[in-house]
Amino acid sequence: MPTDSVPLARPVILRVLIVDDEASVRKVMAAIFAQLGLPCETAASGEEALRTLETHRIDAVISDLHMPGMSGMELLAKVRQNYPQMVFLVVTGVDDIQVGIQAMRQGADDYLVKPLQVDANIVLASLTRALHVKRLEQEVENYRHHLEEIVSEQTQQLREALRQIERSYDQTLEVLGAAIDLRDSPTAGHSRRVFLYSLEIARAMGGLESQMRNIAMGAWLHDIGKLAVSDAILLKPGPLTDEERKIMQRHVQIGYDLVKSIPFLADSAEIIYAHHERCDGSGYPRGLKTEEIPVGARIFAVADTFDAMTSDRPYRRALPFEASREVIERGAGKQYDSQIARVFLSIADETWKVIRKETAAIQAFAFATASDIQALGKLVKSGG
Ligand SMILES: [Fe+2]
Repeated sequence: MPTDSVPLARPVILRVLIVDDEASVRKVMAAIFAQLGLPCETAASGEEALRTLETHRIDAVISDLHMPGMSGMELLAKVRQNYPQMVFLVVTGVDDIQVGIQAMRQGADDYLVKPLQVDANIVLASLTRALHVKRLEQEVENYRHHLEEIVSEQTQQLREALRQIERSYDQTLEVLGAAIDLRDSPTAGHSRRVFLYSLEIARAMGGLESQMRNIAMGAWLHDIGKLAVSDAILLKPGPLTDEERKIMQRHVQIGYDLVKSIPFLADSAEIIYAHHERCDGSGYPRGLKTEEIPVGARIFAVADTFDAMTSDRPYRRALPFEASREVIERGAGKQYDSQIARVFLSIADETWKVIRKETAAIQAFAFATASDIQALGKLVKSGG
């Protein structure tokens, strides 16, 4: 748009390409730029202009709109696509200003009205302003790009910090789980195995992806309340008296109270609270029935029975897988959730053997090691 209100600060170098099919116009415009002291190339068509752009360093294109072959608008579209930073001015007749406005909507930086020779400074002002705008746009783009880099870098740092926090959580939980198992020595490795068994069942059930971590942690810490039960009761070789049994059963409530106040373990606390419930309502502490029991606790119940039966006890050797399968099959719909029991029975013995072998190897160290903790963390994060 012609203007006389813009300062005429001349750019350091401004190489212009004039595109017009009329030789006389090219000549006049070249004369104007010569008068302004600016180097200038000319092209008789859009096609020639594109060739010139490939071979010359050009800062600004000034193009006629009406040309045979490629029109000025088509040339504009191609230049915008290939040279987004190029200044592009269109030239229109006085009766054709609407077309000039249209060209600006499609990406032209300004339009000049013929005849141009009236005031060379108008042309220079228009070019200078367009170039200035382009440079500002470039600066904004650079700034935006820089901001994106900063945001990306900080996001990365934040992710790493979160990963470290998660690792710390996992390590804390790992040590807690190991402490439970160490305290209750006849069930060595029990927490780890039921944790892995529960995950295996949950994975086979499907649709529990968002609950994997809760299920894992609930299984891992299910007996945390036993830390508060005295050795005399916890490690008593013979059967418990009614009074002792009541004290022992309090480990569910104690575990729940311990864990529920930790926000990221709140759902796991519900599993801890319900880990001795049975689907037929015969469990404790609340006598809940199937749907009232969190799914993680129902899964745990199957995993827990399986582990108890297939592990050595001071008073008996481990029972074969087949025997424990039968018990769970018989208890389906009673003590155990029938759907979960069905999923459990569909899992091959080989899977359980692998888990037992792996956990046995870990127990050889008697206590959690750093690599052990890492493995646990990965397992939980990958949903099993
Ligand atoms: Fe328990």
